[in-house]
Amino acid sequence: MYKIAIISGSVRTGRKSHHVAHYFNNYINGNKLGTAEILDLKEFNFPVLEERLSMTPEPDASSLLFSEKIKTADIVIVVFPEYNGGYPASVKNAIDLLYSEWYHKPVGLVSVSSGNFGGVNAMSLLQTIFLKIKAVPAASFPVPNVESSFDENGNALNKEATDKRAAAFLKELLWFAEAFNKMK
Ligand SMILES: Cc1cc2nc3c(=O)[nH]c(=O)nc-3n(C[C@H](O)[C@H](O)[C@H](O)COP(=O)(O)O)c2cc1C
Repeated sequence: MYKIAIISGSVRTGRKSHHVAHYFNNYINGNKLGTAEILDLKEFNFPVLEERLSMTPEPDASSLLFSEKIKTADIVIVVFPEYNGGYPASVKNAIDLLYSEWYHKPVGLVSVSSGNFGGVNAMSLLQTIFLKIKAVPAASFPVPNVESSFDENGNALNKEATDKRAAAFLKELLWFAEAFNKMK
């Protein structure tokens, strides 16, 4: 089974997008679509970047762990909120810490907002960032109205429709994982 790392990108007090990260973790593991694990940026608590991990003489254990998790993942899903029309600094900070780890990585982007548009502004910005570092933003999943869509245990309130969208999203990502695996 493919390894799927789910980055939960919001470190905000009272964050809601974390519920969506739980939803994907439960959905993937529950349906045996892969081996999913949440990488919670609030727990990693990286300081604002002073230098890339590869250029740091004595890297800390949590940065090394994050590097290893991204490097060994077949797919990375990034769950992130839209703040002021962009992605949060916590997400860019974690992306910039690494470099080669992202190479040819199929990435699924899950943008989250409390409004009707599901963070699509931040989505397109983050797609561009991942293209720049030669990762592949292979599938997108905007989540509007997050507060009324998911509970804190990661249950989708409209389960049938959400599961159907999640299945299509995961199908795309798994296709890329399969294709890239054949090229290794
Ligand atoms: C600093 C800040 C800026 C925000 N800017 C936007 C925005 O540009 N567009 C939007 O749809 N929602 C915006 N929101 C609302 C967020 O989508 C909402 O708070 C969502 O729950 C954020 O995810 P989080 O709870 O996981 O941090 C903003 C929220 C914050 C805290």
